[in-house]
Amino acid sequence: MPPCVTVLIIGAGCRGKRYSYFAVHFPNRMKVVGVADPRAFARNDLQKIHSIDKKNVFNDWKVATERERFADAVIIATPDRLHKVTPEDCKEIVSVCAANNVMLAVCHVLRYYPASLKIKELLDAGAIGDICHIQHLEPVGFWHFAHSFVRGNWRNEAESTFSLLAKSCHDIDLINFWMGDKRCLKVSSFGSLSHFTNEHKPKGAASRCLDCSVEQTCPYSAKKIYLQRAEKGYFNWPVSVVCNSGVCDIEAVTEALRSGPYGRCVYECDNDVVSNQVVNMEFEGGATAAFTMMAFTERLGTRKTTIYGTKGELFCAGGGPVQVFDFCTREKTAYPTNKSAFIPSHLMGHDGADYYLMDSFISALTVSSLCQPCHKCRDFHNNRHSIKAAMVAEVPLFRHLIHHSTSPF
Ligand SMILES: NC(=O)c1ccc[n+]([C@@H]2O[C@H](COP(=O)([O-])OP(=O)(O)OC[C@H]3O[C@@H](n4cnc5c(N)ncnc54)[C@H](O)[C@@H]3O)[C@@H](O)[C@H]2O)c1
Repeated sequence: MPPCVTVLIIGAGCRGKRYSYFAVHFPNRMKVVGVADPRAFARNDLQKIHSIDKKNVFNDWKVATERERFADAVIIATPDRLHKVTPEDCKEIVSVCAANNVMLAVCHVLRYYPASLKIKELLDAGAIGDICHIQHLEPVGFWHFAHSFVRGNWRNEAESTFSLLAKSCHDIDLINFWMGDKRCLKVSSFGSLSHFTNEHKPKGAASRCLDCSVEQTCPYSAKKIYLQRAEKGYFNWPVSVVCNSGVCDIEAVTEALRSGPYGRCVYECDNDVVSNQVVNMEFEGGATAAFTMMAFTERLGTRKTTIYGTKGELFCAGGGPVQVFDFCTREKTAYPTNKSAFIPSHLMGHDGADYYLMDSFISALTVSSLCQPCHKCRDFHNNRHSIKAAMVAEVPLFRHLIHHSTSPF
């Protein structure tokens, strides 16, 4: 039996707690042995769930680093500002890991999603010939955008980061992944913050949804997003994010909307990140990609991808199947994706991609410790060995996106 991987969780918020549940469902493969978080209720919650020894519970990640190593791996799930937001930050992380021979995995959940992998498998097998163009859409979801990018943690670039990095780094990563070894040479991008500005505030609207006389006609009403869910007994995300004290019931949600950030009128927030952005990319050999991030969508996170090749056209929406139209035979084939038969509900985030990510992460660590690389951990091994190359491609890309440049790099 492979050894059980011991893990320290840094940042016991949404992500840290969610990934920690892998240990609850697969106790032979992962054990959470430490937690660091300044919020007492968050770290105590994790301590209780995983029966963590008191001496391994910290109120700051820095305190945890003062101890001798006591875990095989660390999951870093702190707010963006604390771990990476600039190309320089990323370079430093990579070089420190390389110097200390530490395996580094970036949490690009969609790389481990069966639909993304099936697309990659078909492309590599030549199912559509040579790739000419990738068209990819990320629908953020109208209320999700209001929650995270107007009222929430990722609303303000100075406090967090720009929305393309916060939300769509996964999509830019997927485009690079599907393009294989072809490097991106040129980028152009435009984006804007539509609608969620003071000038769009409806007449008679109040500063808080609970006091607002026109709230019923507002799609972004906090009552609709949080209170109505809570009234139906639903207290998971996004309602759980609003109840920042650890107690999550109707009273706590109501109080949070009365006084906290999530009860604010969306037209009166300190948000500045863009709600819609397009990114055009040109790759070695001339292939192109067009990516759209869109806030104003019904669906949330159900990506749509069309890839145009010299011998066929590939299409996938959400989890698949992946459809391929063959120009030679004029036939369309639907390829099912290799979904796992069972995914624990705690790890169903990103349509189950949270589970696939953790499964691959723990496999990679386990196999790596046995020095027997296998198919499952291939991407994590590749990450470790080629992370520098990936950064060379991604870092200038993001720098160019920030400046909306069209010049080659
Ligand atoms: N890869 C993905 O799919 C994905 C999805 C959502 C968010 N994220 C990213 O994950 C990270 C965490 O997001 P989240 O939604 O869990 O945020 P969160 O706010 O729910 O959690 C962050 C936690 O970090 C804690 N923290 C703050 N300062 C700390 C310190 N000094 N030491 C230790 N802990 C500290 C906070 O108290 C909080 O509990 C962010 O960078 C976010 O952009 C990734």
